[in-house]
Amino acid sequence: MRRSMELKEAHHQAPDALLTPAKKVFIKTYGCQMNVYDSQRMNDALSADGYTSTDVIEDADLVLLNTCHIREKAAEKVYSELGRLRDMKAERAGAGREMVIGVTGCVAQAEGGEILRRSPAVDLVVGPQTYHRLPDVVRRVRGGQKVVETEYALEDKFDHLPQPRRQDVIKRGVTAFLTVQEGCDKFCTFCVVPYTRGSEVSRSVAQIVAEAERLADAGVREVTLLGQNVNAWHGEGPDGSEWGLGRLLYRLADIPGLSRLRYTTSHPRDMDDELIAAHRDLRTLMPYLHLPVQAGSNRILKAMNRKHTAADYLKLIDRVRAARDDIALSGDFIVGFPGETDADFEDTMTLVREVRYASAFSFKYSPRPGTPGADMKNHVEEAVKNERLQRLQALLTQQQQDFVDSLIGKTIETLVEKPGREAGQVMGRSPWLQTVILDVNAARIGDIVDVKVTKTGYNSLYAERI
Ligand code: 5AD
Ligand code: SF4
Repeated sequence: MRRSMELKEAHHQAPDALLTPAKKVFIKTYGCQMNVYDSQRMNDALSADGYTSTDVIEDADLVLLNTCHIREKAAEKVYSELGRLRDMKAERAGAGREMVIGVTGCVAQAEGGEILRRSPAVDLVVGPQTYHRLPDVVRRVRGGQKVVETEYALEDKFDHLPQPRRQDVIKRGVTAFLTVQEGCDKFCTFCVVPYTRGSEVSRSVAQIVAEAERLADAGVREVTLLGQNVNAWHGEGPDGSEWGLGRLLYRLADIPGLSRLRYTTSHPRDMDDELIAAHRDLRTLMPYLHLPVQAGSNRILKAMNRKHTAADYLKLIDRVRAARDDIALSGDFIVGFPGETDADFEDTMTLVREVRYASAFSFKYSPRPGTPGADMKNHVEEAVKNERLQRLQALLTQQQQDFVDSLIGKTIETLVEKPGREAGQVMGRSPWLQTVILDVNAARIGDIVDVKVTKTGYNSLYAERI
């Protein structure tokens, strides 16, 4: 099928040959960056099947919720959104118009057919490992079936997904995500990921390099490599030897036009020497590391099955900082894990003071069905979790502000990404992930320029071209 733009032309040239207009898909993305990447790939798959993507839900014939299961709230949000969609679908049916509703992503994987029982308006449920089959699933649904596809596919979904069209990559901007690794074998006792995303799988060097080259060719300047355990990525290099993520980064740094590389999310146990050396050697590799520790108490780290101590983590941070002294550190924290005492929580506060994070994410522990943590005794009271979270977040916010304030008056490199929120401005990104606000005349989108920071906002920087 052809795209709507082409259809308009066809209509103009030959009014009799009017074809049915292209169907439209609206995808709402929840959760992590990998879900953002997956939504793009779903759009690519459906686009090859004649669907155009739309940001206006009212225009969509197919509505997909690409969901997250990491915390209870994330999953509950999906069910309340499905309630709204059910009403919209009923209204449409009254007007004689079709609307297909699908749930994809991690809630789809975790709940499968249960979603159809709880929300009968849903037509399809497709897990993260099978979304390359989406066009086929949608066809079956339009033929009158309800479809649940959550079996792990034997085939490699990436071999079966169409490449994005160059104009779609250009439309998505000068930064891009690229999944290199999926799944997790670590089994932290709080986490659903090993169950929703399956065991660790690495994409091949050839697939990753080809995808990065295509992105660069379409004007992408910065690529963030994604994986639930990205630094556990490994693969066979062209010389037959085993590569780790560090070696892969050296290879990607050679691609012309690709000026910035990032990767997320890492596990402390998989930070090997070559990856740390890449931070020392590669100017292309941005001085930023998201390295979750989750807690500062050895007792809690053990109960979480993290398999490292607070001291191991601090030693690792020292090695990373010795390799790259301007590196910004970021982390994830959970407060109120079962059995966490006041003293355990104080250990987390102490660790945070020691590391000095440039940014961080912190959460109240949320029991996830099927994980060992959910069955532990000594769950912490909600009020205690709230109080700990507040104290931790106050400290982390202060550290974040200290970091941005330390940049005032400094000259920093910025990748100009998109028009600003206000007229006359453009928005860029610092090496440490802050938003940089510049005068529109300072640079064009896609440029990497030196700017001087004049003042700071909440994790953002105002700067002038020098
Ligand atoms: N409860 C609270 N936070 C969680 N995370 C993962 N699972 C849970 C849970 N059950 C947090 C961790 C992880 C981040 C992505 O989400 O901090 O690093
Ligand atoms: Fe959420 Fe984890 Fe799934 Fe990402 S991988 S969508 S964070 S549950």
